[in-house]
Amino acid sequence: MSGDLSPIDKAKFVAAKRAAQMVETGMRVGLGTGSTAAWLVRCLGEMVRDNGLRIKGVPTSTRTAELARQVGIEVISLDEAKWLDLTIDGADEFDGELNLIKGGGGALLQEKIVATASDRMVVIADVGKEVETLGAFPLPIEVIPFGWQTTQALVEETLVSVDVLGRESSLRMNGATPFVTDEGNHIVDLHLKRIGNARQLSLILNQIPGVVENGLFVDICDTVVLGHGDGKVEVRDINDGTVSTDRLDFLESNNLFSDLSD
Ligand code: 5RP
Repeated sequence: MSGDLSPIDKAKFVAAKRAAQMVETGMRVGLGTGSTAAWLVRCLGEMVRDNGLRIKGVPTSTRTAELARQVGIEVISLDEAKWLDLTIDGADEFDGELNLIKGGGGALLQEKIVATASDRMVVIADVGKEVETLGAFPLPIEVIPFGWQTTQALVEETLVSVDVLGRESSLRMNGATPFVTDEGNHIVDLHLKRIGNARQLSLILNQIPGVVENGLFVDICDTVVLGHGDGKVEVRDINDGTVSTDRLDFLESNNLFSDLSD
């Protein structure tokens, strides 16, 4: 079955599997959202079932919570956990300083709260997510539904004075209706093309009334686990400046490859 996976899915899987090895019994672990994070949850579920791993997971979306419960991970809320040992999540883009764009799956608000409440954040990604400068991927911002069009106009106006290439934005849709986040908000995607100063932009966006949070993760991520389609995995740590390389196989185990929905 793993032979049916595309190179990108294989890359996501090996990144997730390698990151799962960083999880130890007794840890409180933030569980990200998206297709790469779903692989992680499946890998951890397998370790819980087969290797006696005991962890408490704090999911970053209802989707992830459902999957975590399905695979046998004990799920608790962030308020129950209070602080986490480790959060592992995917990303839409990351740069050389491990600054990220997140929110492609619409879960950026819970993802940022959970990652910030962790001793360490590890990003799992396929090689296509690495960029020199953030911004080709549209930057999601979460806005409250009240007056969202005014908020959007204010954001576009504000972008005139910051170092970005594009200023267009679009309301994220779910079919014919606006996409609604787990917190009941909407997402506006900013088509910036290039973000010159991610830290400054993040601060400016969050000052606009109606903007709840933006998808820039600056100085939050410590480590990236980068998967390749041939099973190669690189682990880069920004704090100690180390890079290590591994190779994982795609050995099928249990039901890991049987549910590819996400
Ligand atoms: C969800 C996210 C995801 O981590 C991001 O979109 C990457 O997703 P995928 O692993 O499916 O490529 O930020 O809000």
